[in-house]
Amino acid sequence: MDITRLLPEDTPMMDAFWELYTDVFEHDQPGSPPAQRKSAEVDIANLRSDMRQEYHLAHVNQQLAGYVRLLFPLLDNKHFMYVNGCVRPEHRRRGVGSELLELALRRGRSCGRVTIGAHTSEPLPGGPYRSTSGRDFLRAKGFDLAHSMRDFSVDLENIKEKIEEDLVDEFLPHAWEYELLSWSGPTPEEHLPAVTALANRFVSEVPLGDLALEDKNIDVERQRAAESLDAVRGRTNVSAYARHPASGELVAHSVISVDDESPEFAHQQVTLVHPEHRGHRLGTLVKIESHRLLRREFPGVRTLFTSVAEVNTHMLAINERLGFVEVDRQLDFQRTI
Ligand SMILES: CC(C)(COP(=O)(O)OP(=O)(O)OC[C@H]1O[C@@H](n2cnc3c(N)ncnc32)[C@H](O)[C@@H]1OP(=O)(O)O)[C@@H](O)C(=O)NCCC(=O)NCCS
Repeated sequence: MDITRLLPEDTPMMDAFWELYTDVFEHDQPGSPPAQRKSAEVDIANLRSDMRQEYHLAHVNQQLAGYVRLLFPLLDNKHFMYVNGCVRPEHRRRGVGSELLELALRRGRSCGRVTIGAHTSEPLPGGPYRSTSGRDFLRAKGFDLAHSMRDFSVDLENIKEKIEEDLVDEFLPHAWEYELLSWSGPTPEEHLPAVTALANRFVSEVPLGDLALEDKNIDVERQRAAESLDAVRGRTNVSAYARHPASGELVAHSVISVDDESPEFAHQQVTLVHPEHRGHRLGTLVKIESHRLLRREFPGVRTLFTSVAEVNTHMLAINERLGFVEVDRQLDFQRTI
């Protein structure tokens, strides 16, 4: 077996990689929203300033059999690295995954990383098929489960707008002190400092289970860089915020992204409320506000996906009320290098 580095200028190899990636994705997670090539190209070209990325390809008998992607945070979490990858089903259980993981561990050690994290999924009872090969491989390789999330989807045509209205009527009296703001696309310049301040506070609030991750330090420049790269990926963010007018602070947000390669699907990113402003139903209100803006700005979106940490029983209940259906379980594993 040979292992080579994937370089963005190698167009035939980029095409072969993409065929492998999409074939395996469809095999292991059928029915999931399609993968985004433009976004993968941004990562392979290593354009992020906060994360160095390497893609390595495994070739068996001149055939592309698998790949591994290594991510090294550069601005924080310098003790950590992420790894993901896959092997074509016909090449599995012959040691390809093991060799790719060995390469990842060697690269991690040489870059001074001490913890490695890997992500995979498993099916839920009655849910769609998901391969459990990733979970079982990681367990066999000494990884422990550190965090789990549940994926949900909802058909926007069927989203219960009446339930949204009822929830807003029920919850708004708890939030009379706050105002809701929303926009589509990059953060307007005047809101950038408040959005960055909120993002910075929030990184310590996202439930991460036992993952050995430290807080990120996000400044205006880093926030702008991330938003510029979203534009290169062909990604538009639809954002809703709650503002506390007395202080001018933004205290809750919910962001949905839509990729121009698959305009019928949207992904709801994290929804969070500042710890000092909890208890005012702001999480649900910003979530519903983002759905409303999504429907106005992207009427072609059919399905909305979201993930919720399994410990977040409140948001799980809200999702159920809004008509979201459970899809699968996302698992974050980690081990020391
Ligand atoms: C996970 C994956 C990369 C493993 O690749 P692979 O080439 O089959 O892995 P290996 O042959 O090196 O397997 C090493 C060991 O892991 C364990 N293992 C791998 N797949 C397994 C499975 N389906 N069930 C149980 N154990 C498994 C076994 O102990 C195996 O050793 P053995 O074959 O001698 O019993 C591959 O199954 C895959 O692409 N899965 C989908 C993508 C994914 O979930 N990736 C997550 C990891 S980031």
